[in-house]
Amino acid sequence: MSATLEKLEQLYEGKAKKVYKTADPERYIVSYKDDATAFNGLKKGTIVGKGAINNRMSNYLMQKLEEAGVPTHFVEELNDRETVVRKVTILPLEVIVRNVAAGSFSKRMGVEEGSALRCPILEFSYKNDELGDPFINDDYAVALGLATREDLQTVRDYTHKVNEFLKAFFLGLNIELVDFKIEFGKTGDGKIILADEISPDTCRLWDATTHEKLDKDRFRRDLGGVEDAYQEVMRRIFG
Ligand code: TMP
Repeated sequence: MSATLEKLEQLYEGKAKKVYKTADPERYIVSYKDDATAFNGLKKGTIVGKGAINNRMSNYLMQKLEEAGVPTHFVEELNDRETVVRKVTILPLEVIVRNVAAGSFSKRMGVEEGSALRCPILEFSYKNDELGDPFINDDYAVALGLATREDLQTVRDYTHKVNEFLKAFFLGLNIELVDFKIEFGKTGDGKIILADEISPDTCRLWDATTHEKLDKDRFRRDLGGVEDAYQEVMRRIFG
């Protein structure tokens, strides 16, 4: 076992996390912030305790997903907010799965939030803040050099497994997984693995009985009770 890694130079600061180099060229450390943004950074705020919740929850789910056959960037949780992850180059794709109509899908398609879908939908956005993460399809991704057809097939296969696992996992907590966004990265040896995070920032989670929102929509839509919602999800997962 090598000694525990420490943060070196900060490589990148995103809206919800910072990424640091370490002494190991194949490992980064991510540090989760309490900062929250919405609408491509137009709305800004703080969700107290969010960083620690998202760190712990994402790490837990990634370990479960590894067991279910999805390779992930998770290596080791260092503390409340910090985790060692495998170094990857993020594919510039936001991979979104929808099990129930909500959010931008409901708006675009004129379908009421909460409407059932006949099959899960997988969609891609081009991860580009300047352009507002535009909706794209496979041909766009390949034509623009964002990913190869083979990459996209791997991403689809893993994403399907992620959805099946997470849907069943959350249902066991009486939570409906309405939709979520995940990101993948490529390791130095060209393997695609699940990266970024899985948390109430990146999933729509509704209480399966009351349909109460237990996710970042409480912040996006000024519904109040944001911290309580994140803590409720934690309570249901960890007791
Ligand atoms: P949407 O309905 O706004 O397109 O969001 C779909 C899912 O993706 C929802 O669970 C929230 C998540 N999401 C992110 O994680 N990051 C984002 O920047 C956006 C727009 C959505």
